[in-house]
Amino acid sequence: MNAAAEWVNDQASSHIAITGGKAGALSQLLKANAIMVPEFEATISGVQQLLLEEGHSQDSYILTNVGTGTSIHHINGGQHVRVAGTGVGGGTIMGLAKLLTGLDEYEDISNLATGNKRDRIDLKVHHIYEGTEPPIPGDLTASNFGNLRDLSSGNLSNEELTSTIVGMVAETITVVSLQAAQQFNAKTIVYIGSTFSNNQLMKDIVIRYTNMYGLNSILLKHGEFSGAVGAMQ
Ligand SMILES: Nc1ncnc2c1ncn2[C@@H]1O[C@H](COP(=O)(O)OP(=O)(O)OP(=O)(O)O)[C@@H](O)[C@H]1O
Ligand SMILES: [Mg+2]
Repeated sequence: MNAAAEWVNDQASSHIAITGGKAGALSQLLKANAIMVPEFEATISGVQQLLLEEGHSQDSYILTNVGTGTSIHHINGGQHVRVAGTGVGGGTIMGLAKLLTGLDEYEDISNLATGNKRDRIDLKVHHIYEGTEPPIPGDLTASNFGNLRDLSSGNLSNEELTSTIVGMVAETITVVSLQAAQQFNAKTIVYIGSTFSNNQLMKDIVIRYTNMYGLNSILLKHGEFSGAVGAMQ
């Protein structure tokens, strides 16, 4: 917080707008007056601007913000409702990774996860439908972490553990988002939040699951800055 305040205080601009849960705490450390913008308002306005900049024209869509936790909204023209949320989010990745691997640097965790090595930990549909054709794709997850009881060979690597944690979070937030889309008859889900930063596996899973259900997924390139972009408007 102090480092962030120092950085802002060093900027030449006197026009400062802040948003988010720690906006009040940050404003007390700033020399100049800052405009405080409510978080949802700022985020949605920033998303609209980033959508236009990145060449999308969307009117009705589900917005899934995977921060420390996850919040899910329906945007329809100028209207906005918060639809759902889950405590499963980026903080869950950080917490479970720390518990299971001891790692606590985000970059280390997201880099290790990229290999998507989940076969020894997750129970897949094809594990259940041995020898017969499953009714849904065999490589879908039947149970996150559900294959551990059959683990017979060797210790699990940090690659396997981090992939499986990211997989569980990505699948959970996508399933909740898909249900929200169904409820509001929306055809597009826009995903934002820092949990997608430099996390290829997270992005791949979310895109695959969303598209598998016939919906359009948009991962904004600069989605983690939606709140800041919207606060400036
Ligand atoms: N450099 C980083 N250091 C720590 N976490 C990071 C980093 N980059 C991405 N992350 C991920 O982003 C998550 C936080 O996302 P974000 O900053 O969008 O959340 P937030 O806005 O603070 O939380 P919320 O939206 O739930 O209020 C972390 O839990 C972690 O998974
Ligand atoms: Mg946030």
